[in-house]
Amino acid sequence: MAYDIATIPGDGIGVEVVEAARPLLELSADDAGCAIEWTEYDWGTERYLETGGMMPEDGLDRLADHDAILLGAVGHPDVPDHVTLRGLMLPIRKTFDQQICKRPAVLYEGVESPLRGYDSESDDGDIDFVVFRENTEGEYADVGGRAHVGFDHEVAVQSAVYTRTGTEAIVRAAFEEAKRREQRVTNVTKSNAQAYGMVMWDEIVEEVAAEFPNVTVDRLLVDAASMDLIRRPDEFDVIVASNLFGDILTDIGAIVTGSMGLAPSANINREGAYPSMFEPVHGSAPDIEGEGVANPLATVLSGAMLFEHLDERDAADSLHRAVEEQLADPEAPRTPDLGGHGTTADVITDLRDRL
Ligand code: NAI
Ligand code: MG
Repeated sequence: MAYDIATIPGDGIGVEVVEAARPLLELSADDAGCAIEWTEYDWGTERYLETGGMMPEDGLDRLADHDAILLGAVGHPDVPDHVTLRGLMLPIRKTFDQQICKRPAVLYEGVESPLRGYDSESDDGDIDFVVFRENTEGEYADVGGRAHVGFDHEVAVQSAVYTRTGTEAIVRAAFEEAKRREQRVTNVTKSNAQAYGMVMWDEIVEEVAAEFPNVTVDRLLVDAASMDLIRRPDEFDVIVASNLFGDILTDIGAIVTGSMGLAPSANINREGAYPSMFEPVHGSAPDIEGEGVANPLATVLSGAMLFEHLDERDAADSLHRAVEEQLADPEAPRTPDLGGHGTTADVITDLRDRL
């Protein structure tokens, strides 16, 4: 079986980590008896600065037929972030109906959390949860406008949009995942302050929960959830949240499990009519761009999620195993975000040997 995978390395360290991770994905595919054919799209901010478009007019059409997409990151200090995000990533997520954003947060053996008591030596400091973030609507629905720009009476309206089908899809995906895990879902909203969209969301959670009698449901407001992800992150299993809340909670998830450089994500099209997209949670990190020290593990783990999605379990497992072994090995190279002195290339070479 050969898979046709699109890569969009994007900007900054996105390019570095995708280039580094690709040969490892090829290797694990090869071992598992499948193959990857890459099509690289050099879209991103450089293209925008030259041509005015983050991607070509027919960019989405060109992506539509691939089996999956591997993305690095987009974002550049010279261009406002809303331009880069809305020119590339958001249109892909929305047009390809990638409603389900799945972001695991795992404290691996050998990695130290900045939280006291959460390290590989402590028994109860075992962080392992996954956030299901609604990915195409909510607070990022791109509905609104500005009027009287520059005047004292300037006005900006930004509306959040929650559909029953979109909410149900993400909530159902979270409950299905909980069935495969520890049977616990935490629903995170802000229904005390946002009494329309979020109250409908809560109602949908209760309706779906009724179909999953073995799954326990906890309910938290997003401010309390932010606190509890620092105070007792080991107690979470599956978290379901809206687009904005999920975005914020997953940065907390990334850092309490050691580094932004370890956090992978999947943007999934449930019906399979369009490609799903896999990408590290982190951005283009201009502060370390070009230094060769970006941690490639988030991208490697995103590659493992890509294989899981394609149902290539062996390829996914071998990547996971190699990463776990490396992190648990005190002699193995690690990048500065994990307290080491290794380079991106050192980490990849070591992983290649383990694979
Ligand atoms: P960022 O995730 O790029 O960086 C935050 C911090 O984490 C920085 O100190 C960075 O050095 C560190 N970091 C991130 N990834 C790392 C890795 N793999 N290895 C080692 N250290 C790592 O977030 P920031 O600085 O807020 O945004 C930078 C640019 O990226 C902005 O233009 C932003 O819009 C964009 N961005 C893009 C995202 C995407 O494409 N999915 C997501 C988040 C931000
Ligand atoms: Mg984010």
